[in-house]
Amino acid sequence: MNILLTGGAGYIATHTCLELLAAGHEAIVVDNYVNSCPEAVRRVEELSGRSVPVYEADVSDRAAMDRIFEENRIDAVIHFAGLKAVGESVRQPLRYYRNNLDTTLTLCETMAAHGVKRLVFSSSATVYGVPDEVPLREDMFCKGCTNPYGWTKYMIEKILGSVCEADPEWSVVLLRYFNPIGAHESGRIGEDPAGIPNNLMPFITQVAAGRLDHLNVFGNDYDTPDGTGVRDYIHVVDLGRGHVCACDYAAKHTGCEIINLGTGVGYSVLDIVRTFERVNGIRIPCEIAPRRPGDVAACYADPSKAKRLLGWEATHTLEDMCRDAWHWQSMNPMGYRT
Ligand code: UFG
Repeated sequence: MNILLTGGAGYIATHTCLELLAAGHEAIVVDNYVNSCPEAVRRVEELSGRSVPVYEADVSDRAAMDRIFEENRIDAVIHFAGLKAVGESVRQPLRYYRNNLDTTLTLCETMAAHGVKRLVFSSSATVYGVPDEVPLREDMFCKGCTNPYGWTKYMIEKILGSVCEADPEWSVVLLRYFNPIGAHESGRIGEDPAGIPNNLMPFITQVAAGRLDHLNVFGNDYDTPDGTGVRDYIHVVDLGRGHVCACDYAAKHTGCEIINLGTGVGYSVLDIVRTFERVNGIRIPCEIAPRRPGDVAACYADPSKAKRLLGWEATHTLEDMCRDAWHWQSMNPMGYRT
């Protein structure tokens, strides 16, 4: 298939792009580089030995999107584009709602106008809000999100569900990601956050690289085995493969399916730190800090639906994730700027 990746220069998108190319698909990228850079796609081309057409455009620009659909025969779209920083979304809610919703609406309108009705969407476990119980299943009722970023994902899920109800020819897969970490084993592509990282693994790798001094562990008094927050960390290459399976699924079915992409295993902050230290032989100085507002004690997936519907399950271990995250950071201490 010819697959358009919106936000295709980002962390999850570049890993997905490589897996799509390896599976024999063609990829086309559109990105406005608001939180990414052209070098990332260049490295995907280098690793795959294939060329990937790239359009520098905003997905909410209808004329630019029409041009992409006119110049390429697109069979399916994976919609990664979107703003994604939880804290920033609390400070700039209108920017988040405007950007994430506008891009999705324009994308769907453009797709419909060009007769393309297969879509895989980057949703998030954040839509589960504060869970009553774990593991999280797709059919659990979502009581509400804890931040505007999460609400944009929630609203986009609803919008895409309505699109499928109105037109039974559409096929949409809503992928609810848990916590993607790690990098391609080559160390050529990986996560390159702007500024000080918000998320745990890039923070740890920057401490290991000497860019940051120590890790603040946000709370050690949660109701979890060691008191620190528990999450379902998934290797980004496994996540990328999940998208390939979702595209195959969307080609054979219609309607809207919600699918968790996680491992089903929860690890605490201290599990991550200790595994990172052991695998890479680097000490990560830690200080216990207050809980971060909006954080939940434990969040991990029931991944059985992904296995049943997509034939997909995660294969990488936590050791792989810690090793590959450090391999990428150590080879690219300043990210793509090196
Ligand atoms: N943590 C620290 N110190 C840090 C950063 C994080 O102790 O410097 C802890 C957090 O408190 C949490 C765990 O590490 O217990 C994971 O935190 P992340 O920020 O890496 O990830 P979150 O689970 O908070 O958020 C992620 C994505 C969001 C998404 C959410 C869905 O970043 O986009 O999962 O559940 F919404």
